[in-house]
Amino acid sequence: MCGIVGYIGDKQAIPFLLDGMSKLEYRGYDSAGVAVYNKGKICIEKCVGRLEALKQKLKGNMPEGTMGIGHTRWATHGRPSDVNSHPHADSSGEFVVVHNGIIENYLGLKQDLQAKGHTFLSETDTEVVAHLMSEYYTGDFEDTVKKVLGMIEGSYSLVFMCAKEPGKLICTKKSNPLVIGLGNGENFIASDIPAIIAKTRRTFIMSDGEIATVTKDNVWVQDINGTPISKKIFEVNWNAEAAEKGGFEHFMLKEIYEQPKAMRDTMLGRLAKTNDAVVFSELNWTPEELKGINKIFIVACGTAYHAGVVGKYYIEQMARISVEVDIASEFRYRLPIIDGNCLCIVISQSGETIDTLEALKEAKRLGARTLAVTNVVGSSIAREADQVVYTYAGPEIAVASTKAYTTQLLIMLLLSMYIAQLRNTVTVDRLQELIVGIREIPEQIHKMLENVEQIKIFATKYGSSEDAFFLGRSLDYAVALEGALKLKEISYIHAEAYAAGELKHGTLALIVEGVPVIVLATQPDVYEKTISNLQEVKARDAVVIGIGMEGDKKLAQHADHVIYIPKTDKYLAPLEAVLPLQLLAYYAALTRGCDVDKPRNLAKSVTVE
Ligand code: M6R
Repeated sequence: MCGIVGYIGDKQAIPFLLDGMSKLEYRGYDSAGVAVYNKGKICIEKCVGRLEALKQKLKGNMPEGTMGIGHTRWATHGRPSDVNSHPHADSSGEFVVVHNGIIENYLGLKQDLQAKGHTFLSETDTEVVAHLMSEYYTGDFEDTVKKVLGMIEGSYSLVFMCAKEPGKLICTKKSNPLVIGLGNGENFIASDIPAIIAKTRRTFIMSDGEIATVTKDNVWVQDINGTPISKKIFEVNWNAEAAEKGGFEHFMLKEIYEQPKAMRDTMLGRLAKTNDAVVFSELNWTPEELKGINKIFIVACGTAYHAGVVGKYYIEQMARISVEVDIASEFRYRLPIIDGNCLCIVISQSGETIDTLEALKEAKRLGARTLAVTNVVGSSIAREADQVVYTYAGPEIAVASTKAYTTQLLIMLLLSMYIAQLRNTVTVDRLQELIVGIREIPEQIHKMLENVEQIKIFATKYGSSEDAFFLGRSLDYAVALEGALKLKEISYIHAEAYAAGELKHGTLALIVEGVPVIVLATQPDVYEKTISNLQEVKARDAVVIGIGMEGDKKLAQHADHVIYIPKTDKYLAPLEAVLPLQLLAYYAALTRGCDVDKPRNLAKSVTVE
């Protein structure tokens, strides 16, 4: 999510740090900062805003030093502000750290440290790490890092500086990227290759649990027990643009492949270790408060709206509260019947979509309680809503939303489980079953992404079609909506999603020989009926691509082709079934030579009505 750089050598650190950070800024960040060691002290300069704001701040006041770290922040804990920007230090300023990721247990650690007399300046989880370093300093920098790593839980890449032991940077990672660049008499650290390729192409990638001690002439890697690890050095041969995309041809594809991580980050800290409860520490609802809510409105646009449609099924089926889903631009003008007994949930990746923001204001004006589900901390929607739940998808650059959607689905599922748990409409056994399944999702998605050849073939074969249809019932219908939008948006193929049972009420007239029809059949409760609808289109000579769960032989008998998702719970199927639809859209767009990341007429953030 955030960008990290580190330098140690004979040259001034700041020019490299700023240059490296600018190479990471393409993802869009909200604040930036640097820390440089000089003559026994670490000087920190940081501020909210783009990197340019930091550059202006440093103009004529460039801290000197040949060892430093830098950070571009994408806020997770604590809104974007000067004080929440990284690097963070302990109270003495001797231990400084930059961090990418989420420290899951930071609140407990912070309270312990406060009880020991530590004072915190920021709202971040990261500041806790710097204070832990000073509290538990053993007289040995490396040992202390290991000790602190034993205390923190979550996902991170971290780079540490210690004024007591200059001449070395220590870095480590868990579930977040970190690379080391090797130079002559200088070495580099970065969260992403683009930050260092102007300086060196000799790199190695850090693996989870590894701790690297980086001096100007040496890099020493070990595990937490001190066992040395030898790393394979490789030469990066990508150009700068390819490096920004992590070697992927497009940001969209990169973001599709980031989904396992986005899911892991989003579920982090929200599933009880005992697997029997969902935890939303950011929500302070009580069962009594929830009893007062007799209706939920979900309001959003585009892909986020489609996540809302899935959310309706989840909440109604699990929490047994009636839900209406509205397109934000319609909501405001339809005189919705909404009051203090209603909860309005708005969903927005960017947190800046004007239609959604205005709908949120309207719901508030009418007295409803409001909750935002968004990916951008401190965004307008996050600020406007009474409560916020963040998706931790990381910056999404491609116009076509992918990882934001799947994390929104995950949040909607977790929210419905949470509400159901408070309202006593779900058994502990069922919660456990779902939580165990949710934990498996990132790995299952990862496996699906390793095997996309079949999807590429279908995309090439049917990419020249001018129309396509997506059918499904229940949750499959909700996912079909997103599949059709993805295909339209980037390949410009006319695509429609229909509730499978609705087709015969008019649209069946459009089903002619050779038209591709994607039929989702993952929902056991409506499976037989979906197969009947499949047969209706088959009888009109459509080409049917079925999407079903592994082992579904019946689907294979009826469809022309089948794409299987791993066997999973019916509520988890949407999180997996959308993967082949995203990839079909992506490869169809490639076949047609479309500009995948910047489709015609569209913008990433829609701030006009
Ligand atoms: O940032 P938001 O989630 O509020 O954006 C809403 C839509 O504009 C967005 O999802 C749009 O539909 C995407 N381009 C779809 O891929």
